[in-house]
Order: sequence, then structure tokens, then C-alpha cells
Amino acid sequence: MNAHAAGPAAFKAVMRRHPTGVTVVTSLREREPRGITLSAFASVSAQPPMLLICVNREARSYLYISSSRIFCVNLLAAEQSELAERFSGRVKEHQFDDIEWSTDVTGAPVLAGTIGHFDCAVEAEHHAGSHSIFIGRVLACAAREGRPLGYYEGRFRDFHLEAP
Ligand SMILES: Cc1cc2nc3c(=O)[nH]c(=O)nc-3n(C[C@H](O)[C@H](O)[C@H](O)COP(=O)(O)O)c2cc1C
Repeated sequence: MNAHAAGPAAFKAVMRRHPTGVTVVTSLREREPRGITLSAFASVSAQPPMLLICVNREARSYLYISSSRIFCVNLLAAEQSELAERFSGRVKEHQFDDIEWSTDVTGAPVLAGTIGHFDCAVEAEHHAGSHSIFIGRVLACAAREGRPLGYYEGRFRDFHLEAP
């Protein structure tokens, strides 16, 4: 095992070993939609339903979420890596041109073709280093059939999930 002092490079090297799903978190401010590809997402509480996301305060999406106080977590399907790339900086303006989306309760975009979504109102924001942890109260959610998109060692993956 390689042990390193815990600086940013060592932190990232170890975090790469952690497989995650991939989400696009969307928001809506003054009728303008915005989205960010995000893997720092976790369940917090089922009663009441709450979750958390971690967003870099330098990301444009940060302003949308912190001022509108709404966001929707869209769980990407295995065949949606192109959407993940689009929302991780490849498309800077008019991010939603040519893609299909609708809305649920809050008005934040619900992307078509995902395996589920959580539509949320911001309950709390905590600053932590470069990021903000947003706690979301889930106002509506839905699951759909399909396999998840994964991310591991810096690449999008189809995990081909099977029981060990
Ligand atoms: C797989 C993957 C996961 C990511 N996870 C996060 C995350 O959890 N939080 C975050 O702030 N940025 C994350 N990013 C980076 C943002 O998607 C990226 O910085 C984006 O360009 C910010 O866009 P904006 O400035 O237009 O809002 C991730 C990127 C990728 C490819």
C-alpha cells in the first residue's frame, strides 16, 4: 500500500478508488436552467426525506442553487455519459438546447431518460472548504427502469452490476 501525506493530490488519488454513480443536478433561476455533473451526493434521512449534495462555490451552478433554493438530482442511466460530459463543462452556454426535459414540483429541470430523480428545496447550506454542502428536502421523486452510469478511476463506466 502507498501511504502519502494528506494533501490535495493524495486525497484525489485515493478518492479515484471510490466508485460512484453520476448525477446531473439542475436548478432554475429567473427562468434560466443550469446543470452540473455531480457525484458528491448521498442520502441523509428517509423521514422526512432528505439528501445532500456538495457543490464547488466557484461553479456557476452554485449561484443558481444558492439563490433559487431549489435543485433536482437526476440519476444518469448507463447510456447517458454524453449528458455527464455536457454538464461537466463541455457546454458552457445554452446547456439545455437539444435535450429533452420537463419539470416536477419545484420547476428545476427533470432530464429525460434517467433512472430517477429527486426534486428538492434547500433546507440548509454548510460551507466546507471549497464546497458547500446543500441539504435538500425531497418534495417529489420518481424511479425508472434502467442501469446506472458509474464513474471510477476518472472514467465513466457501465458497472454491469452483479451480486458477488
Ligand atoms: C464524474 C464527475 C463528478 C463530479 N462531481 C462534482 C461534485 O460532486 N461537485 C462539484 O462541485 N463538481 C463536480 N464535478 C465537476 C463539475 O461537473 C464541473 O466543475 C462543472 O464544469 C461545473 O460547471 P459550472 O461552473 O458551469 O456550474 C464533477 C465532474 C465529473 C465529470
